[in-house]
Amino acid sequence: MSPFALTRTLPLDATAAALRADVATGLTRTPKELPPKWFYDARGSELFDEITLLPEYYPTRAEREILIDRATEIAEATGARTLVELGSGSSDKTRHLIRALPALDHYVPVDVSESALRGAAGTLLAEHPALTVHALVADFQYGLALPGTPGPRLVAFLGGTIGNLLPAERVAFLTAVRSELAPGDALLLGTDLVKDERTLVAAYDDAAGVTAAFNKNVLAVVNRELGADFDPDDFAHVALWDARQEWIEMRLRARTALVAKIPALDLAVHFAAGEELRTEVSAKFRRAGVAGELAEAGLRMSHWWTDEEGRFALSLSVPDGPAGGQD
Ligand code: SAH
Ligand code: AVI
Repeated sequence: MSPFALTRTLPLDATAAALRADVATGLTRTPKELPPKWFYDARGSELFDEITLLPEYYPTRAEREILIDRATEIAEATGARTLVELGSGSSDKTRHLIRALPALDHYVPVDVSESALRGAAGTLLAEHPALTVHALVADFQYGLALPGTPGPRLVAFLGGTIGNLLPAERVAFLTAVRSELAPGDALLLGTDLVKDERTLVAAYDDAAGVTAAFNKNVLAVVNRELGADFDPDDFAHVALWDARQEWIEMRLRARTALVAKIPALDLAVHFAAGEELRTEVSAKFRRAGVAGELAEAGLRMSHWWTDEEGRFALSLSVPDGPAGGQD
């Protein structure tokens, strides 16, 4: 059997329909808003990988530090044979986990970005030829249909990507993940932590302008997929800390009043000068909040690890409470 398979659980036409629906809804409401998953075409995935190397963007380095320090503990606590990774991207940090899990023979990366999945699988299979990689092009927020690989399964959701979901979406997402877990399975969750505003804002507004290019990439996606005529130069990149919600917001602010045409939707979108389009929230967490959200979804936190500077946390949790998908 081939060690690599790629399944598209999201048909291309469903992806196109979802983008049309999100753009039609998000750009006709006040305030304007688009979900962050549309950043990640091939160029957006490359830009995110560049972000992870920026001096200001600490989360990737902090999470890598924890993974390296705790990989053996994670392996002992889980004994995983299958590693499922949601929003896996380049799977770059995952290699620390894969190396440390002695019983692991299946890796199931799940991402909306097919280019990221193919690139990651190529690199991982070169390092681990005995590993079976079953990549899923799927939206982790809707209908996770995981392949029937051997347990115990460890589901990893790294990078702090859970912070890109709104609170109600997080509950729904964690509940869906819980329903995929059988006794003996576990969830490894990366969460960025609340810290001083200056550090946080710098991480989302870097001096080299890579995050600005990443933010504006969503306009390039809408132009290409829906024939729109956004000029990215008409917008300024905005990153701000909302201290009440404890999240960073990325926005695109119209430099002047303008109208963008979106032929595929037969829509003309008006922006007033200074009007902002929210493109992402990136929530930052505290330990009690993470444990509470996990508990609400029927998961019990068994481990909590942070990097030396306390910037980022990885937690391990196990199914608890009402039985979900115990099959
Ligand atoms: N886990 C990696 C990548 C984080 S970037 C890391 O820690 O560095 C976020 C990743 O999630 C991207 O690869 C993006 O394509 C993917 N993603 C974002 N929203 C998604 C969704 N709704 N469903 C599936 N993948 C998604
Ligand atoms: C993927 N996610 C956790 C990143 C974050 O930090 O919220 C996406 C990102 N947005 C701007 N920079 C990075």
